[in-house]
Amino acid sequence: MKKVLKTIGWLLLIALVAIQFFHPKKNIHEGDQPNAISKKYSVSADVKLILNKACMDCHSNNTRYPWYNNIQPVAWWLNNHILDGKKELNFDEYIDKRPRFQYRRMEQTIDLVKKEEMPLDSYTWIHKDAILSEEEKTKLFNWAQSIMDTLKAQYPIDSLKRQGPPPPQK
Ligand code: HEC
Repeated sequence: MKKVLKTIGWLLLIALVAIQFFHPKKNIHEGDQPNAISKKYSVSADVKLILNKACMDCHSNNTRYPWYNNIQPVAWWLNNHILDGKKELNFDEYIDKRPRFQYRRMEQTIDLVKKEEMPLDSYTWIHKDAILSEEEKTKLFNWAQSIMDTLKAQYPIDSLKRQGPPPPQK
C-alpha cells in the first residue's frame, strides 16, 4: 500500500512539472483597436480607470497578467475566465456589433455590477481595487446609461429590446 501511494505521489509530481511547459496563448493584441467602444462613445478618464481596473482583464483584447499566470494549472484557469468573458463582452470589439447587442450589454453591465456578479469574486479576492465604491458604480452606471440613450436616439426601441416576455434568467 505504501509503495502504491509513493508511486502515485511521484506520478502527480511528474505531471505537475510536465504541465509547466504548456501555456495557453496570452490575450495580448497591442496596437489600435478599431472597434473599441471609445471609437464611437465617449469614455471619460474616470470611467476608463474603472473599466481598466475592474473589467478589462477579462473583457478586452489586452490582459495584464499577474505573476502567478506563470504557474500551471493556474494559467489555464485564468485563461478560461478570459476566453469566457471576452466571448460575452469585449470592449475592444464593440461598435461593430449589432445595436441590440450593444444595448443589452450596457443594460447587463448595470444589472450585474448592481448584483455584485461582476467583476467575478475570484477576481476581487486578489484585485482589491476592482471592488468599486458607490461613487465609482454611479459613474459606471451613468456612462452605460448614456450609451443606451445614444442608441435609443439612433434606432427604434424595438430593434434594441426584445419584444414579449423577458428571456428566462440563467
Ligand atoms: C475575472 C474575469 C472578469 C472580470 C474582471 C469581469 N468579468 Fe464580466 N464576465 C466574465 C465571464 C467569465 C463572463 C461570462 C460568464 C458569465 O456570464 O458569468 C462575463 C460576462 C459579463 C457580461 C455578460 C453577461 C451575460 O449574461 O452575457 C457582462 C455585461 C459583464 N461580464 C460585465 C462586466 C463588467 C462591467 C465588469 C467590470 C465591472 C466585468 N464584467 C468584470 C468575467 C469577468
